[in-house]
Amino acid sequence: MTVAPIRWGILGTGNIAGRFTEDLLRLPDHSVVAVGSRSPRSAEVFAGRHGLPRGYGSYAELAADDELDVVYVATPHNVHHSAARTCLEAGRAVLVEKPFTVSAAEAHDLIMLARERKLFAMEAMWTRFNPVIARLRRLIGDGAIGQVQAVYADFAVNFPYDPQHRVWAPELAGGALLDLGVYPVSFAWMLLGPPDQAHAVLSAAPTGVDANTAIVLGYPSGAVAMLHCGLRADSPQTATVIGTTGRIQVAAPFWRTDSLTLLRDGLPPETFSETPVGHGYTYQAAEVAARLRAGDLESPLVPLDETHDILRLLDSLRRSPS
Ligand SMILES: NC(=O)c1ccc[n+]([C@@H]2O[C@H](COP(=O)([O-])OP(=O)(O)OC[C@H]3O[C@@H](n4cnc5c(N)ncnc54)[C@H](OP(=O)(O)O)[C@@H]3O)[C@@H](O)[C@H]2O)c1
Repeated sequence: MTVAPIRWGILGTGNIAGRFTEDLLRLPDHSVVAVGSRSPRSAEVFAGRHGLPRGYGSYAELAADDELDVVYVATPHNVHHSAARTCLEAGRAVLVEKPFTVSAAEAHDLIMLARERKLFAMEAMWTRFNPVIARLRRLIGDGAIGQVQAVYADFAVNFPYDPQHRVWAPELAGGALLDLGVYPVSFAWMLLGPPDQAHAVLSAAPTGVDANTAIVLGYPSGAVAMLHCGLRADSPQTATVIGTTGRIQVAAPFWRTDSLTLLRDGLPPETFSETPVGHGYTYQAAEVAARLRAGDLESPLVPLDETHDILRLLDSLRRSPS
């Protein structure tokens, strides 16, 4: 049986908008119908490059296109809230890049609006749909390493210092924690749930955004998480989950991994590998399609309340003394 393709609109014409569009175009049951940009010229160039039928010179015009099933919001973080709000108010479902918004308050507003309008919404926390990460969750759920005691994960990148670039610019909600730290924090949350203790040490860039940040989380079970993110140096970008009877090492980059190794007491190591399809965003696109076709308003793998609670944690970590 053939199914009607999911019709996507792309909001923004930057780096990730292009990469996600390339992945959508690899999938037979998705079509990319339109792009919206702040500038008509950028919309035209992006539409031409990817062979899209329509390019709009404003986000509002994109949102008003009623032939779209869902809009992918791919702007700097500080614009996610207003752009997603424009889409939801126009009746469009949304997939919003990470971090969903720059604060829990903004996330709350979007979540309430999506629920009120009965529209699907999800943060693009694509790592959760990676098949190796799905295997990791199954292994831990099956007790392969006993009770989880600790999670280590890091995501630091040596970004050349440029106060105009969105990762360094406070006016674009830059900083390591919001841009990169959201991955290890979300990873630990996926495995351990909400922490009951949270501490961070943040080292600031000259622009004032956090540039080198360590996070320690504690959980009611007694487990802990040790996480790091930064903008000044390349870290291993691995993740390790340590349990009472073994551990699992997730290969770099853990946020787009292609393998994990299970190390169990007294047993030979076992490695599970799977090469991501395309740039790795295809699984996330498939999840959005499945949820839209089922009439669901959110994904159980990236629940909206959890997105909100993670942002509340990031809010509190950013208030830590630097
Ligand atoms: N999932 C992932 O793997 C991944 C990877 C990278 C980034 N991201 C996320 O995706 C988002 C975009 O990142 P990116 O690297 O694609 O950024 P980017 O290359 O700078 O592109 C952002 C786009 O947003 C639009 N925009 C709207 N207001 C803007 C403003 N005030 N300043 C600059 N651009 C503005 C622009 O498109 P128009 O001019 O056409 O409107 C611009 O091209 C971020 O939230 C980031 O966290 C996710």
